[in-house]
Amino acid sequence: MQSIRLLEEVTGTRAFIVSDSIMDQLGYLKTAVDHLAKAGISSVSFTEVRPDPDVKLIADGMKAFMESGADVLVAIGGGSSIDAAKGILYFASKMNQPDGKEFKRPLFIAIPSTSGTGSEVTNFSVITSEDGKVCIVDEFITPDIAILDSTCIQHVPQRVVVDTGIDVLVHAIEAYVSTMATDFTDALAEKAIKLIFENLEILHRDVKNATARDRVQNASCMAGMAFTNANLGITHSLAHALGGTFHIPHGRSNALMLSAVMEYNADLRGSANGYAAERYAKLADLLKLPARTAREGTVHLIREVNRLKKALKIEDNLRSLGIDQSEFENALANMTDAAIADRCTPTNPRQPSGEDLVRIYQQCY
Ligand SMILES: NC(=O)c1ccc[n+]([C@@H]2O[C@H](COP(=O)([O-])OP(=O)(O)OC[C@H]3O[C@@H](n4cnc5c(N)ncnc54)[C@H](O)[C@@H]3O)[C@@H](O)[C@H]2O)c1
Ligand SMILES: [Zn+2]
Repeated sequence: MQSIRLLEEVTGTRAFIVSDSIMDQLGYLKTAVDHLAKAGISSVSFTEVRPDPDVKLIADGMKAFMESGADVLVAIGGGSSIDAAKGILYFASKMNQPDGKEFKRPLFIAIPSTSGTGSEVTNFSVITSEDGKVCIVDEFITPDIAILDSTCIQHVPQRVVVDTGIDVLVHAIEAYVSTMATDFTDALAEKAIKLIFENLEILHRDVKNATARDRVQNASCMAGMAFTNANLGITHSLAHALGGTFHIPHGRSNALMLSAVMEYNADLRGSANGYAAERYAKLADLLKLPARTAREGTVHLIREVNRLKKALKIEDNLRSLGIDQSEFENALANMTDAAIADRCTPTNPRQPSGEDLVRIYQQCY
């Protein structure tokens, strides 16, 4: 059974659906509207979402949502659509309500179409403002129901498979070395990492491989569960500022930062025997890579990450992505300030100075 049919079991009267025009063209919106209709729920659609939703989009969506009087909020799409719905929900709850009554939270259902951000199970929403990407982190915006339906991800283009799939790996690795990691988040992160290493290359070679697609989708959701509890680290802080400044897809920004951040966290040019190095070595061991010492394990895990990035044809550095050197240097100070202030920085296993982050950015250029 296609799990999107679970929409037929929802209780409510009117749904506000947040999505993008591609999801509309691919027919997913109609599918959702039809299933909701079988539950006696009428729908209003908002399909204006574009990658990396910004403040104006959230304001427009919030207005349409409040006018709709919906008691069910459905997000169908990638992280951008789900995060937009979260932003709409968050800010609508802060507004004076038209009838002067208290805000009544709608039932919130997320159906991811990428694998992915894990946004369907997280309390995170990333919104682009004039100052770059800003994270809202609040349990109030965690979806009540996540529907994983692999038919919704069958047409994802190869480039999006790569960008989103590597994001899953970064979520799991960052959650694993986070200062808030627990046995529970470790279990989710370890499984997600194994699934990504076993399946992402296969899916990249053959985007029609249904088994690999399912496994990567599961990994995405598990990594989301891991990081919504353990939080993330500075790969994301640096990637948020970089992606917001140079309009690089979120996953690719992360991919370009990951190895240099791992080197820094593990202090690979120094002692390489602290918490992060030991955690990376545990992951290396899990992947059956040599890991007799923390240094050896870290080195092999970074090599394995680099091998995967090469196989996925991810650029080696920011220069090969076409970013102009002087524009990059001019943006460094602002990006560094934003990364230091990012919500993902406090749980990084090593607390960076501004100079540390500048060095990491420069190493990645
Ligand atoms: N909330 C969180 O926990 C969290 C975590 C990581 C990243 N993010 C944010 O999520 C956003 C990125 O989300 P994303 O990586 O899922 O990409 P996306 O939602 O921006 O989608 C990327 C592109 O793929 C297309 N697409 C999506 N699904 C498709 C499908 N099934 N078939 C064909 N095309 C499809 C979209 O239309 C879009 O053009 C960024 O803003 C990022 O900052 C959020
Ligand atoms: Zn991410």
